[in-house]
Amino acid sequence: MSATLLLGQTLAFTADPFTVPPPEAARHDTRGGVLIEGGRIAATGEADALRRAHPEVPVTDLGQALILPGFVDAHAHYPQTGIIASWGKRLIDWLNTYTFPEESRFGDAAYAAEVAARYLDLVTAHGTTTVCSYCTIHPESVDALMAEGQARRMRLAAGKTCMDRNAPDSLRDTAQTAYDDSKRLLERWHGQDRLSYVITPRFSPTSTPEQLAALGALWAEHPDCLMQTHLSEQTDECAWVAELFPGARDYLDTYEAHGLLGARGLYGHAIHLTPRERARLAEVQAALVHCPTSNTFIGSGLFDMAGLAPVLPVGLATDTGGGSSFSMLRTMAAAYEVGQLAGTPLHPAQLLWLATAGSARALHMGDRIGRLEAGMEADLVALDLASTPGIAQRAGRAQDIWEAVFPTIMMGDDRAVAGVWIAGARVKG
Ligand code: GUN
Ligand code: ZN
Repeated sequence: MSATLLLGQTLAFTADPFTVPPPEAARHDTRGGVLIEGGRIAATGEADALRRAHPEVPVTDLGQALILPGFVDAHAHYPQTGIIASWGKRLIDWLNTYTFPEESRFGDAAYAAEVAARYLDLVTAHGTTTVCSYCTIHPESVDALMAEGQARRMRLAAGKTCMDRNAPDSLRDTAQTAYDDSKRLLERWHGQDRLSYVITPRFSPTSTPEQLAALGALWAEHPDCLMQTHLSEQTDECAWVAELFPGARDYLDTYEAHGLLGARGLYGHAIHLTPRERARLAEVQAALVHCPTSNTFIGSGLFDMAGLAPVLPVGLATDTGGGSSFSMLRTMAAAYEVGQLAGTPLHPAQLLWLATAGSARALHMGDRIGRLEAGMEADLVALDLASTPGIAQRAGRAQDIWEAVFPTIMMGDDRAVAGVWIAGARVKG
C-alpha cells in the first residue's frame, strides 16, 4: 500500500479549547510529520522520529507550512454558489429575490452537475475537505452533488431541501413527495463510500406541520442520519414563525413537536434563542452551526459562542451563499469579529478547532475526520503562514504558533492554502 510522509509544522488538538485553556488544547511540533497510508493517517509526531521509523517512505517536505486537518464546513447551500455576494437584502427578501430563482434551475441535471463541480473545486481550493450542504427540492440536485463528491472521494453530507409552502410553485413539493423523494435519495446515497444523507426541511416557514411531521417520521425510521435545518436567524423570521405556528412554545418547538429535535440534529444560525430553547438544545445535545459571514452579510445578529460552545456541540460554517465567502479562513476571521462584537474574543485555538474538530463533532464525524491522529482519514490542509507580504511581515515577529497563525486566519485566502489532501491523495499544490 503506497505511503507518504508529510513534513512541516503540525498542530494536533488533544482537547476541546472551550473546556480547557485554549493554548493547552493542542500539541504543536515546529518540525512535525504526518504519515499517510491507505488513505488514513498512520502516525503523527516529530519529523526526525517518523523518518527514522519509516526510512523507506517517500517524503513530501512542506517546509514551514502548517499541516492541519482539512476544514469542515458544517452548513452550506451549494446551489447558491452562483448568487453569492448579492446586494442589499435581509433574509426573507434575499430568499425571494436571489435564492429561490436560482434554486429553481436545479431540476436541470446538467446545470446541477456543473454547479456541483464548480462548488467543490472552489471549496477544495480553499482547504475545505468536507461540507454538509443543502441541495434544492429537486432530487437531481442531490444526485449531482453526491456523484461529484463520490468521484472525488470526499466525505460529504447533503440532502434534498424540502419546502411545501411560502415558496414559488416551481420550488414546492408536498409532505408526501418530500418523504418519498428523501427516502429514495437516502437509500441511494447514505453510507455509499464517504457520503451521508441528511434529512433537510429548509425551515419552519416553508414547511407545513404535515411536512415537518413526515420528515420527523423519516428521521425516526433512519435515526443514524443527520437532520439539518435553520433556527432563529432573524427577528422578522422568528415573528413569522410565531404567526405560522400559534400553538408552539417557541421556534424550536415547531421542530420538537414534529420529531425534528435530536442529538443528530444540526440547527443553523441559532442567534435569537429563548432561555427554554437554549436549555432544551443543551439537554438534547443537539448541534448548533455558527455562520458568521452570513450573520453579518444578511444582518442577522451575533451568535453567543461564549455561552453556547461550552455546553453543546457547535460547528462553524460558511452558509454559502448567504455567507459571503467559500473560505473557512475568512469564516474564522468573521467568527473572531462576531466574538469581539459580542464581548468575547475567540482564541486562535478555538477558531481552528471550530473549523476542524468542532465541526466534525457537530456532524458526528469526529471519529473519522477533523483531527491529526493515527486512524483518522487523511483529509489534510497545509497552510503557508506567509502567503502575502502583509501576512508575512506580521507573522515574522510572532512569538508562538498562535501569533504566527492568527494573521493567516484574519487576512488569509486561498493563496494561503499550499496543499490539500483528500483520503490521502493530494488535490492541490
Ligand atoms: N433560512 C432558510 N433558508 C435559508 C438560506 O438558504 N440561507 C440562509 N442564510 N437562511 C435560510
Ligand atoms: Zn443556510
